[in-house]
Amino acid sequence: MFKSEVYIKRREELHKKMKTGLALFIGNSEAPMNYPANTYHFRQDSDFLYFFGLDIPGFAGVMDFDSGKDRIFSNDCDMGNIIWIGPQPTVKELAFKSGVTNTAPLPKLEEIIKDALSKNRKINFLPPYRGETKMILGSLLKENPCQMKTLASVDLIKAVISMRSIKEKVEIEEIEKAVDIAYDMHVTAMKMCKQGVKEQDIFGTIEGIALAKGGGTSFPIILSVNGQTLHNHAHGNILKKGRMMVTDAGAETNLHYSSDITRTTPVGGKFSQQQKDIYEIVLKANTEAIKATRPGISNRDLHFMACKIIASGMKELGLMKGDVDEAVTAGAHALFMPHGLGHMMGLDVHDMEALGENFIGYNDEVKRSDQFGLAFLRFAMPYKQGHVFTVEPGCYFIPELIEKWKAEGKFREFINFSKIDSYMSIGGIRIEDDVLITDKGHKVLGKPIPKTIKEVESICA
Ligand code: GLY
Ligand code: MN
Repeated sequence: MFKSEVYIKRREELHKKMKTGLALFIGNSEAPMNYPANTYHFRQDSDFLYFFGLDIPGFAGVMDFDSGKDRIFSNDCDMGNIIWIGPQPTVKELAFKSGVTNTAPLPKLEEIIKDALSKNRKINFLPPYRGETKMILGSLLKENPCQMKTLASVDLIKAVISMRSIKEKVEIEEIEKAVDIAYDMHVTAMKMCKQGVKEQDIFGTIEGIALAKGGGTSFPIILSVNGQTLHNHAHGNILKKGRMMVTDAGAETNLHYSSDITRTTPVGGKFSQQQKDIYEIVLKANTEAIKATRPGISNRDLHFMACKIIASGMKELGLMKGDVDEAVTAGAHALFMPHGLGHMMGLDVHDMEALGENFIGYNDEVKRSDQFGLAFLRFAMPYKQGHVFTVEPGCYFIPELIEKWKAEGKFREFINFSKIDSYMSIGGIRIEDDVLITDKGHKVLGKPIPKTIKEVESICA
Protein backbone atom coordinates (compact mmCIF):
# COMPACT_ATOMS: atom_id res chain seq x y z
CA MET A 1 0.00 0.00 0.00
CA PHE A 2 0.96 3.66 -0.23
CA LYS A 3 1.95 5.56 2.92
CA SER A 4 -0.95 6.23 5.29
CA GLU A 5 -0.84 9.98 4.44
CA VAL A 6 -2.12 9.20 0.92
CA TYR A 7 -5.31 7.62 2.28
CA ILE A 8 -5.72 10.22 5.03
CA LYS A 9 -5.53 13.02 2.46
CA ARG A 10 -8.03 11.33 0.15
CA ARG A 11 -10.53 10.80 2.97
CA GLU A 12 -10.10 14.40 4.13
CA GLU A 13 -10.91 15.57 0.61
CA LEU A 14 -14.03 13.41 0.48
CA HIS A 15 -15.12 14.79 3.89
CA LYS A 16 -14.84 18.31 2.44
CA LYS A 17 -16.86 17.40 -0.63
CA MET A 18 -19.64 15.49 1.17
CA LYS A 19 -20.17 17.62 4.33
CA THR A 20 -22.99 15.59 5.97
CA GLY A 21 -24.27 12.03 6.49
CA LEU A 22 -22.27 8.81 6.33
CA ALA A 23 -20.48 6.95 3.56
CA LEU A 24 -20.38 3.19 3.73
CA PHE A 25 -17.69 1.34 1.77
CA ILE A 26 -18.05 -2.45 1.71
CA GLY A 27 -14.77 -4.10 0.70
CA ASN A 28 -14.98 -7.24 -1.42
CA SER A 29 -15.23 -10.67 0.14
CA GLU A 30 -13.88 -13.97 -1.18
CA ALA A 31 -15.97 -15.26 -4.10
CA PRO A 32 -16.40 -19.04 -4.31
CA MET A 33 -15.59 -20.73 -7.62
CA ASN A 34 -17.15 -24.20 -7.28
CA TYR A 35 -17.50 -24.68 -3.51
CA PRO A 36 -17.22 -22.19 -0.68
CA ALA A 37 -13.58 -22.75 0.26
CA ASN A 38 -12.34 -22.84 -3.35
CA THR A 39 -12.31 -19.18 -4.26
CA TYR A 40 -11.45 -17.02 -7.27
CA HIS A 41 -8.32 -14.89 -7.17
CA PHE A 42 -9.19 -12.17 -4.61
CA ARG A 43 -9.61 -8.66 -6.00
CA GLN A 44 -10.37 -5.85 -3.57
CA ASP A 45 -12.99 -3.25 -4.48
CA SER A 46 -11.22 -0.30 -6.13
CA ASP A 47 -13.01 2.40 -4.12
CA PHE A 48 -12.18 0.62 -0.87
CA LEU A 49 -8.57 0.39 -2.06
CA TYR A 50 -8.57 4.07 -3.01
CA PHE A 51 -9.76 5.32 0.39
CA PHE A 52 -8.45 2.64 2.76
CA GLY A 53 -5.74 0.73 0.84
CA LEU A 54 -6.31 -2.59 2.62
CA ASP A 55 -6.11 -5.44 0.14
CA ILE A 56 -7.82 -8.04 2.33
CA PRO A 57 -11.29 -9.64 2.12
CA GLY A 58 -13.99 -9.00 4.71
CA PHE A 59 -13.43 -5.32 5.53
CA ALA A 60 -15.77 -2.33 5.56
CA GLY A 61 -15.11 1.37 6.10
CA VAL A 62 -17.40 4.14 7.30
CA MET A 63 -16.77 7.86 7.00
CA ASP A 64 -18.94 10.04 9.18
CA PHE A 65 -19.09 13.48 7.54
CA ASP A 66 -20.75 15.09 10.55
CA SER A 67 -18.30 13.97 13.24
CA GLY A 68 -15.33 13.91 10.80
CA LYS A 69 -14.45 10.37 11.99
CA ASP A 70 -13.49 7.34 9.95
CA ARG A 71 -13.78 3.76 11.13
CA ILE A 72 -12.72 0.36 9.81
CA PHE A 73 -14.73 -2.79 10.53
CA SER A 74 -13.46 -6.36 10.34
CA ASN A 75 -12.96 -9.39 12.53
CA ASP A 76 -9.58 -10.42 13.91
CA CYS A 77 -8.45 -13.89 12.83
CA ASP A 78 -9.16 -16.64 15.33
CA MET A 79 -7.17 -19.87 15.77
CA GLY A 80 -9.49 -21.60 13.29
CA ASN A 81 -8.21 -19.22 10.58
CA ILE A 82 -4.63 -19.01 11.77
CA ILE A 83 -3.95 -22.74 11.43
CA TRP A 84 -4.95 -22.54 7.75
CA ILE A 85 -3.67 -19.12 6.66
CA GLY A 86 -0.96 -18.37 9.20
CA PRO A 87 -0.74 -15.61 11.81
CA GLN A 88 -2.29 -12.32 10.68
CA PRO A 89 -1.98 -8.72 11.91
CA THR A 90 -4.91 -7.46 13.97
CA VAL A 91 -7.55 -5.22 12.41
CA LYS A 92 -6.14 -2.37 14.54
CA GLU A 93 -2.64 -2.90 13.13
CA LEU A 94 -3.96 -3.05 9.58
CA ALA A 95 -6.19 0.03 9.99
CA PHE A 96 -3.19 1.96 11.30
CA LYS A 97 -1.57 1.55 7.86
CA SER A 98 -4.42 3.49 6.30
CA GLY A 99 -4.28 6.12 9.04
CA VAL A 100 -7.47 4.95 10.79
CA THR A 101 -7.31 4.48 14.56
CA ASN A 102 -10.94 3.68 15.16
CA THR A 103 -11.80 0.01 14.50
CA ALA A 104 -14.52 -2.43 15.47
CA PRO A 105 -15.59 -6.01 14.69
CA LEU A 106 -18.08 -6.46 11.85
CA PRO A 107 -21.22 -6.96 14.02
CA LYS A 108 -20.70 -3.40 15.30
CA LEU A 109 -21.30 -2.12 11.73
CA GLU A 110 -24.89 -3.33 11.95
CA GLU A 111 -25.38 -1.32 15.15
CA ILE A 112 -23.88 1.85 13.66
CA ILE A 113 -26.08 1.64 10.57
CA LYS A 114 -29.16 0.83 12.64
CA ASP A 115 -28.49 3.88 14.77
CA ALA A 116 -28.00 6.11 11.69
CA LEU A 117 -31.23 4.79 10.14
CA SER A 118 -33.17 5.48 13.32
CA LYS A 119 -31.93 9.08 13.24
CA ASN A 120 -32.80 9.45 9.54
CA ARG A 121 -29.23 10.19 8.64
CA LYS A 122 -28.25 9.93 4.98
CA ILE A 123 -26.21 6.76 4.34
CA ASN A 124 -24.31 7.15 1.09
CA PHE A 125 -22.90 4.17 -0.79
CA LEU A 126 -21.58 3.49 -4.28
CA PRO A 127 -23.37 1.18 -6.76
CA PRO A 128 -22.54 -2.43 -5.83
CA TYR A 129 -21.59 -4.79 -8.67
CA ARG A 130 -21.21 -8.09 -6.74
CA GLY A 131 -24.05 -10.21 -5.41
CA GLU A 132 -22.40 -10.53 -1.98
CA THR A 133 -22.11 -6.75 -1.58
CA LYS A 134 -25.73 -6.23 -2.65
CA MET A 135 -26.81 -8.77 -0.01
CA ILE A 136 -24.73 -7.09 2.73
CA LEU A 137 -26.02 -3.62 1.83
CA GLY A 138 -29.60 -4.88 1.57
CA SER A 139 -29.37 -6.50 4.97
CA LEU A 140 -27.74 -3.49 6.67
CA LEU A 141 -30.07 -0.92 5.12
CA LYS A 142 -33.23 -3.06 5.25
CA GLU A 143 -33.72 -2.71 1.51
CA ASN A 144 -34.23 -5.16 -1.35
CA PRO A 145 -30.69 -6.26 -2.36
CA CYS A 146 -31.72 -6.18 -6.04
CA GLN A 147 -32.48 -2.45 -5.73
CA MET A 148 -29.17 -1.41 -4.20
CA LYS A 149 -27.69 -0.11 -7.45
CA THR A 150 -30.57 2.32 -8.01
CA LEU A 151 -30.41 3.49 -4.37
CA ALA A 152 -26.72 4.42 -4.61
CA SER A 153 -25.80 8.03 -3.80
CA VAL A 154 -25.32 10.26 -6.82
CA ASP A 155 -23.52 12.86 -4.66
CA LEU A 156 -21.00 10.25 -3.51
CA ILE A 157 -20.58 8.87 -7.05
CA LYS A 158 -19.82 12.36 -8.38
CA ALA A 159 -17.45 13.20 -5.53
CA VAL A 160 -15.49 9.95 -5.94
CA ILE A 161 -15.29 10.35 -9.73
CA SER A 162 -13.99 13.91 -9.36
CA MET A 163 -11.17 12.59 -7.15
CA ARG A 164 -10.24 9.32 -8.87
CA SER A 165 -10.24 10.95 -12.36
CA ILE A 166 -7.22 13.10 -11.53
CA LYS A 167 -4.26 10.81 -10.93
CA GLU A 168 -1.75 11.59 -8.20
CA LYS A 169 2.00 11.27 -8.77
CA VAL A 170 2.14 7.97 -6.86
CA GLU A 171 -0.67 6.61 -9.01
CA ILE A 172 1.03 7.60 -12.26
CA GLU A 173 4.19 5.83 -11.09
CA GLU A 174 2.12 2.69 -10.48
CA ILE A 175 0.45 2.88 -13.91
CA GLU A 176 3.89 3.22 -15.52
CA LYS A 177 4.98 0.05 -13.69
CA ALA A 178 1.86 -1.70 -15.02
CA VAL A 179 2.73 -0.64 -18.58
CA ASP A 180 6.28 -1.94 -18.09
CA ILE A 181 4.84 -5.35 -17.18
CA ALA A 182 2.69 -5.11 -20.32
CA TYR A 183 5.90 -4.45 -22.29
CA ASP A 184 7.20 -7.87 -21.26
CA MET A 185 3.83 -9.50 -22.01
CA HIS A 186 3.57 -7.98 -25.49
CA VAL A 187 7.15 -8.47 -26.57
CA THR A 188 6.88 -12.12 -25.48
CA ALA A 189 3.63 -12.53 -27.45
CA MET A 190 5.26 -10.99 -30.55
CA LYS A 191 8.23 -13.35 -30.30
CA MET A 192 5.93 -16.37 -29.93
CA CYS A 193 3.68 -15.36 -32.84
CA LYS A 194 4.86 -18.06 -35.23
CA GLN A 195 3.22 -20.56 -37.57
CA GLY A 196 2.10 -23.72 -35.70
CA VAL A 197 1.96 -22.18 -32.21
CA LYS A 198 -1.36 -22.46 -30.35
CA GLU A 199 -2.93 -19.19 -29.16
CA GLN A 200 -3.39 -20.81 -25.73
CA ASP A 201 0.40 -21.23 -25.35
CA ILE A 202 0.93 -17.50 -25.84
CA PHE A 203 -2.06 -16.56 -23.70
CA GLY A 204 -0.85 -18.72 -20.78
CA THR A 205 2.72 -17.50 -21.07
CA ILE A 206 1.82 -13.81 -20.95
CA GLU A 207 -0.77 -14.33 -18.20
CA GLY A 208 2.11 -15.92 -16.24
CA ILE A 209 4.23 -12.80 -16.77
CA ALA A 210 1.42 -10.62 -15.36
CA LEU A 211 1.26 -12.87 -12.28
CA ALA A 212 5.02 -13.13 -11.89
CA LYS A 213 5.61 -9.37 -12.08
CA GLY A 214 2.47 -7.88 -10.53
CA GLY A 215 -1.06 -8.58 -9.43
CA GLY A 216 -2.06 -10.55 -12.54
CA THR A 217 -3.90 -9.29 -15.60
CA SER A 218 -6.06 -6.17 -15.44
CA PHE A 219 -8.82 -7.90 -17.48
CA PRO A 220 -9.16 -11.28 -19.22
CA ILE A 221 -6.59 -11.35 -22.02
CA ILE A 222 -7.91 -10.85 -25.55
CA LEU A 223 -5.64 -12.82 -27.88
CA SER A 224 -6.74 -14.22 -31.20
CA VAL A 225 -6.14 -14.42 -34.91
CA ASN A 226 -9.85 -13.61 -35.09
CA GLY A 227 -9.27 -10.05 -33.96
CA GLN A 228 -12.43 -8.98 -35.79
CA THR A 229 -14.23 -10.15 -32.62
CA LEU A 230 -13.42 -7.17 -30.44
CA HIS A 231 -13.22 -9.01 -27.12
CA ASN A 232 -12.16 -12.48 -28.25
CA HIS A 233 -11.43 -14.64 -25.20
CA ALA A 234 -11.24 -17.96 -27.09
CA HIS A 235 -7.64 -19.09 -27.53
CA GLY A 236 -8.02 -22.38 -29.39
CA ASN A 237 -6.55 -21.56 -32.82
CA ILE A 238 -3.21 -22.73 -34.20
CA LEU A 239 -1.42 -19.78 -35.79
CA LYS A 240 -1.13 -19.90 -39.56
CA LYS A 241 0.89 -17.71 -41.92
CA GLY A 242 -1.20 -15.01 -43.55
CA ARG A 243 -3.18 -14.18 -40.37
CA MET A 244 -2.65 -11.43 -37.82
CA MET A 245 -2.83 -11.92 -34.06
CA VAL A 246 -4.47 -9.24 -31.94
CA THR A 247 -3.14 -9.18 -28.36
CA ASP A 248 -5.06 -6.84 -26.07
CA ALA A 249 -3.59 -7.40 -22.63
CA GLY A 250 -2.57 -5.48 -19.56
CA ALA A 251 -1.37 -6.07 -16.05
CA GLU A 252 -2.13 -4.85 -12.57
CA THR A 253 0.70 -3.86 -10.26
CA ASN A 254 0.72 -5.32 -6.77
CA LEU A 255 -1.20 -2.18 -5.72
CA HIS A 256 -3.77 -2.90 -8.48
CA TYR A 257 -3.11 -0.06 -10.90
CA SER A 258 -3.71 -1.13 -14.51
CA SER A 259 -2.28 -1.06 -17.96
CA ASP A 260 -4.14 -1.83 -21.17
CA ILE A 261 -2.12 -2.27 -24.35
CA THR A 262 -2.99 -3.72 -27.74
CA ARG A 263 -0.60 -4.81 -30.44
CA THR A 264 -1.28 -6.68 -33.68
CA THR A 265 1.38 -9.01 -35.04
CA PRO A 266 1.53 -10.87 -38.35
CA VAL A 267 2.01 -14.62 -37.85
CA GLY A 268 5.64 -15.31 -38.69
CA GLY A 269 6.67 -11.73 -37.98
CA LYS A 270 6.59 -10.27 -41.53
CA PHE A 271 3.74 -8.08 -42.77
CA SER A 272 2.29 -8.72 -46.24
CA GLN A 273 1.67 -5.63 -48.39
CA GLN A 274 -2.08 -5.82 -47.69
CA GLN A 275 -1.49 -6.15 -43.93
CA LYS A 276 0.90 -3.18 -44.06
CA ASP A 277 -1.72 -1.09 -45.87
CA ILE A 278 -4.33 -1.51 -43.14
CA TYR A 279 -1.81 -1.51 -40.28
CA GLU A 280 -0.38 1.86 -41.35
CA ILE A 281 -3.87 3.40 -41.33
CA VAL A 282 -4.54 2.22 -37.77
CA LEU A 283 -1.05 3.26 -36.67
CA LYS A 284 -1.64 6.75 -38.09
CA ALA A 285 -4.96 7.00 -36.23
CA ASN A 286 -3.17 5.97 -33.02
CA THR A 287 -0.15 8.27 -33.37
CA GLU A 288 -2.07 11.32 -34.65
CA ALA A 289 -4.67 11.03 -31.88
CA ILE A 290 -1.89 10.74 -29.29
CA LYS A 291 -0.06 13.74 -30.79
CA ALA A 292 -3.21 15.87 -30.45
CA THR A 293 -3.86 14.81 -26.84
CA ARG A 294 -3.78 17.76 -24.43
CA PRO A 295 -5.96 19.43 -21.79
CA GLY A 296 -9.10 21.00 -23.24
CA ILE A 297 -9.49 18.77 -26.29
CA SER A 298 -12.32 16.29 -25.88
CA ASN A 299 -12.09 12.54 -26.20
CA ARG A 300 -15.01 12.82 -28.65
CA ASP A 301 -13.02 15.22 -30.90
CA LEU A 302 -10.07 12.82 -30.87
CA HIS A 303 -12.41 9.91 -31.57
CA PHE A 304 -13.67 11.73 -34.69
CA MET A 305 -10.12 12.56 -35.71
CA ALA A 306 -9.16 8.87 -35.52
CA CYS A 307 -12.34 7.79 -37.35
CA LYS A 308 -11.59 10.25 -40.16
CA ILE A 309 -8.06 8.87 -40.51
CA ILE A 310 -9.49 5.34 -40.73
CA ALA A 311 -12.14 6.43 -43.26
CA SER A 312 -9.72 8.36 -45.45
CA GLY A 313 -7.25 5.45 -45.41
CA MET A 314 -10.03 3.09 -46.42
CA LYS A 315 -11.01 5.51 -49.18
CA GLU A 316 -7.44 5.55 -50.53
CA LEU A 317 -7.55 1.75 -50.68
CA GLY A 318 -10.91 1.91 -52.47
CA LEU A 319 -12.89 0.33 -49.63
CA MET A 320 -14.77 3.56 -48.92
CA LYS A 321 -15.83 6.40 -51.21
CA GLY A 322 -17.46 9.84 -51.10
CA ASP A 323 -16.76 12.68 -48.70
CA VAL A 324 -14.85 11.50 -45.61
CA ASP A 325 -16.36 14.09 -43.24
CA GLU A 326 -19.86 13.22 -44.40
CA ALA A 327 -19.17 9.49 -44.10
CA VAL A 328 -17.91 9.85 -40.53
CA THR A 329 -20.76 12.18 -39.51
CA ALA A 330 -23.23 9.62 -40.87
CA GLY A 331 -21.39 6.78 -39.06
CA ALA A 332 -20.39 4.76 -42.16
CA HIS A 333 -16.81 4.24 -40.91
CA ALA A 334 -18.24 2.25 -37.98
CA LEU A 335 -18.39 -0.75 -40.31
CA PHE A 336 -14.61 -0.84 -39.84
CA MET A 337 -14.23 0.81 -36.42
CA PRO A 338 -17.40 0.15 -34.39
CA HIS A 339 -15.96 1.12 -30.99
CA GLY A 340 -14.81 4.25 -29.18
CA LEU A 341 -11.27 5.62 -29.23
CA GLY A 342 -10.54 4.87 -25.59
CA HIS A 343 -11.43 5.01 -21.93
CA MET A 344 -10.07 6.22 -18.61
CA MET A 345 -7.68 3.91 -16.82
CA GLY A 346 -6.44 3.70 -13.24
CA LEU A 347 -7.32 1.31 -10.42
CA ASP A 348 -9.79 -0.23 -12.88
CA VAL A 349 -8.81 -0.87 -16.45
CA HIS A 350 -12.07 0.83 -17.48
CA ASP A 351 -11.65 3.23 -14.63
CA MET A 352 -14.65 3.60 -12.30
CA GLU A 353 -16.98 1.90 -14.78
CA ALA A 354 -18.84 0.38 -11.81
CA LEU A 355 -19.88 3.93 -10.82
CA GLY A 356 -21.70 4.41 -14.14
CA GLU A 357 -20.17 5.30 -17.51
CA ASN A 358 -22.50 8.24 -18.04
CA PHE A 359 -21.38 9.86 -14.78
CA ILE A 360 -17.74 9.52 -15.84
CA GLY A 361 -17.75 10.46 -19.50
CA TYR A 362 -20.90 12.52 -20.02
CA ASN A 363 -22.87 15.30 -18.29
CA ASP A 364 -25.91 17.52 -18.84
CA GLU A 365 -24.25 19.32 -21.75
CA VAL A 366 -22.36 16.40 -23.30
CA LYS A 367 -24.92 13.70 -24.04
CA ARG A 368 -24.20 10.18 -25.29
CA SER A 369 -25.02 9.62 -28.96
CA ASP A 370 -27.17 6.66 -29.96
CA GLN A 371 -25.45 6.29 -33.34
CA PHE A 372 -23.96 2.82 -33.94
CA GLY A 373 -20.25 3.01 -33.07
CA LEU A 374 -20.28 6.45 -31.43
CA ALA A 375 -22.71 5.10 -28.81
CA PHE A 376 -19.87 2.91 -27.51
CA LEU A 377 -17.61 5.89 -26.78
CA ARG A 378 -17.12 5.65 -23.01
CA PHE A 379 -16.03 9.26 -22.45
CA ALA A 380 -16.88 12.32 -24.56
CA MET A 381 -15.78 15.27 -22.43
CA PRO A 382 -12.63 17.43 -22.55
CA TYR A 383 -9.42 16.07 -21.06
CA LYS A 384 -7.96 17.57 -17.90
CA GLN A 385 -4.42 17.45 -16.61
CA GLY A 386 -4.00 14.25 -14.59
CA HIS A 387 -6.43 12.14 -16.63
CA VAL A 388 -5.10 8.83 -17.92
CA PHE A 389 -6.66 7.49 -21.11
CA THR A 390 -6.20 4.65 -23.56
CA VAL A 391 -5.93 5.54 -27.24
CA GLU A 392 -7.01 2.46 -29.16
CA PRO A 393 -8.22 2.86 -32.73
CA GLY A 394 -8.84 -0.27 -34.77
CA CYS A 395 -9.95 -1.55 -38.14
CA TYR A 396 -11.95 -4.76 -38.40
CA PHE A 397 -13.50 -6.97 -41.06
CA ILE A 398 -16.51 -8.42 -39.21
CA PRO A 399 -18.22 -10.86 -41.60
CA GLU A 400 -21.63 -10.75 -39.92
CA LEU A 401 -21.75 -6.93 -39.83
CA ILE A 402 -20.50 -6.59 -43.41
CA GLU A 403 -23.09 -9.13 -44.63
CA LYS A 404 -25.87 -7.32 -42.78
CA TRP A 405 -25.05 -3.86 -44.07
CA LYS A 406 -24.46 -5.19 -47.57
CA ALA A 407 -27.85 -6.95 -47.60
CA GLU A 408 -29.54 -3.79 -46.30
CA GLY A 409 -27.65 -1.61 -48.78
CA LYS A 410 -26.62 0.49 -45.77
CA PHE A 411 -24.21 3.37 -46.55
CA ARG A 412 -23.90 2.16 -50.17
CA GLU A 413 -22.87 5.73 -51.00
CA PHE A 414 -19.78 5.49 -48.75
CA ILE A 415 -18.76 1.80 -48.82
CA ASN A 416 -17.47 -0.31 -51.70
CA PHE A 417 -18.83 -3.64 -50.51
CA SER A 418 -17.44 -5.50 -53.55
CA LYS A 419 -13.86 -4.58 -52.58
CA ILE A 420 -14.11 -5.87 -49.02
CA ASP A 421 -13.99 -9.62 -49.82
CA SER A 422 -10.28 -9.59 -50.63
CA TYR A 423 -9.47 -8.07 -47.18
CA MET A 424 -11.34 -10.55 -44.97
CA SER A 425 -8.21 -12.51 -43.95
CA ILE A 426 -6.94 -9.40 -42.11
CA GLY A 427 -9.49 -10.12 -39.36
CA GLY A 428 -8.83 -7.14 -37.11
CA ILE A 429 -6.07 -4.70 -36.24
CA ARG A 430 -6.02 -2.62 -33.05
CA ILE A 431 -3.17 -0.55 -31.59
CA GLU A 432 -3.54 0.78 -28.05
CA ASP A 433 -1.37 2.88 -25.74
CA ASP A 434 -1.87 4.44 -22.32
CA VAL A 435 -1.53 8.21 -22.15
CA LEU A 436 -1.35 10.76 -19.31
CA ILE A 437 -2.69 14.27 -19.92
CA THR A 438 -0.02 16.69 -18.71
CA ASP A 439 -0.22 20.49 -18.15
CA LYS A 440 0.33 21.34 -21.82
CA GLY A 441 0.16 18.03 -23.66
CA HIS A 442 0.55 14.37 -22.90
CA LYS A 443 2.95 11.58 -22.00
CA VAL A 444 2.74 8.04 -23.34
CA LEU A 445 3.22 5.97 -20.20
CA GLY A 446 5.81 3.25 -19.66
CA LYS A 447 8.56 1.77 -21.73
CA PRO A 448 7.70 2.15 -25.46
CA ILE A 449 6.36 -1.14 -26.80
CA PRO A 450 7.27 -1.97 -30.45
CA LYS A 451 4.59 -0.47 -32.66
CA THR A 452 5.87 0.58 -36.10
CA ILE A 453 6.08 -2.09 -38.80
CA LYS A 454 9.88 -1.95 -38.57
CA GLU A 455 9.88 -2.31 -34.77
CA VAL A 456 7.39 -5.20 -34.78
CA GLU A 457 9.22 -7.06 -37.54
CA SER A 458 12.55 -6.58 -35.81
CA ILE A 459 11.29 -7.92 -32.43
CA CYS A 460 9.70 -10.91 -34.17
CA ALA A 461 12.94 -11.62 -36.02
N1 GLY B 1 -8.80 -3.77 -23.30
C1 GLY B 1 -10.16 -4.06 -23.49
C2 GLY B 1 -10.99 -2.85 -23.53
O1 GLY B 1 -10.53 -1.76 -23.42
O2 GLY B 1 -12.20 -2.97 -23.65
MN1 MN C 1 -8.73 -0.59 -23.70
